Amino acid sequence: MRKIFIATGNAHKISEFREIFDTLGLEAELVSPKDFNDDSEPVENGSTYKENSYIKARFYYDRYHLPTLADDSGIEIDFFDGQPGIHSARFLPGMSYPERNDYICDKMKDSDNRGASFHCVVTYIDEKGEARFHEGVVKGSIAREPKGIEGFGYDPIFITDGYDKTNALMGQEFKNSHSHRAIALRKWVEDLED
Ligand code: IMP
Repeated sequence: MRKIFIATGNAHKISEFREIFDTLGLEAELVSPKDFNDDSEPVENGSTYKENSYIKARFYYDRYHLPTLADDSGIEIDFFDGQPGIHSARFLPGMSYPERNDYICDKMKDSDNRGASFHCVVTYIDEKGEARFHEGVVKGSIAREPKGIEGFGYDPIFITDGYDKTNALMGQEFKNSHSHRAIALRKWVEDLED
């Protein structure tokens, strides 16, 4: 079975990758830095999702020489002029995600400017060391208050366009086929099959 290195230490992302692979019917053994007791991390000093995604993929490819898949992702909130974007993991330092989500909803409580989008760029470096990039974007809005417990990060406050519940209420199965990460990975699989 093909072995693919998933270039992240984020346990939520790893389990999403596994579930999306299952949803797409892709058979692969997925390994990640944890399987190598590796807690080193690349410095994400790019200025785009694509650059940061490539930095992560290249860092681990150079260490393990395995086909490597990395994603860089984030949420862009219109009310905050598109922030936090590539800084989503480090936004509002010192706050837990429930605290951040409360803070965002509270700041936006009197505003109708609720647009937001989730972005993801996936980088795949194949056995020859060649990189391919695929992007997934989902448009939506920020909920009036955080709701739901599934998913991670900003899922309790993000409502995908065309739906009326947060991602965290819609559940993991919904995310596995509708999320920015699922869209980017679906494009990658289509590209692999070509
Ligand atoms: P990265 O690991 O640098 O790509 O950080 C991405 C950050 O964006 C995560 O830590 C979350 O804060 C946020 N994020 C990305 N994807 C999702 C998602 O699917 N749900 C909720 N938050 C997400």
